[in-house]
Amino acid sequence: MIKRSVLNSALILAVLALSATFMIPTAAQAADEAAARELARANNCFKCHAVDKKKDGPGFNETAAKYKGKADAQAKLVKHLTTGGKVKFEDGHEEEHKVIKAKDEAQVKNLVDWILSVK
Ligand code: HEC
Repeated sequence: MIKRSVLNSALILAVLALSATFMIPTAAQAADEAAARELARANNCFKCHAVDKKKDGPGFNETAAKYKGKADAQAKLVKHLTTGGKVKFEDGHEEEHKVIKAKDEAQVKNLVDWILSVK
């Protein structure tokens, strides 16, 4: 009897340890907010965007809501930021959206992941 309960506790501990191990990759995938904000700041994105409200462009919370649950959200926004394209302003005029300057695509993806995570 005693042996069995020891075995059970050992099993429970093993399961807990395993689930803790599997949680680490999930945490590592979360966007690095500080790096994302820094890249946005360096690119003057905040001139036209705020995190929580509309400026010339949509608030990042608005964009996150718009793309919520869409599997291709990251790819679409990375494309938007790296290729630009015409965007419409409130007053109706159109101009080329700013093309982001970043050292690599991973940096842009991190910014996009952060934007998509804004609540
Ligand atoms: C000169 C102003 C301006 C700057 C600078 C600017 N944007 Fe925008 N951005 C806009 C406008 C206006 C829109 C709205 C486009 C529309 O709704 O047609 C937009 C749209 C977006 C969207 C939403 C795209 C979508 O598909 O819904 C994202 C995300 C975005 N911008 C991110 C950024 C980032 C990141 C930067 C910095 C690299 C940046 N913007 C710089 C004006 C700007």
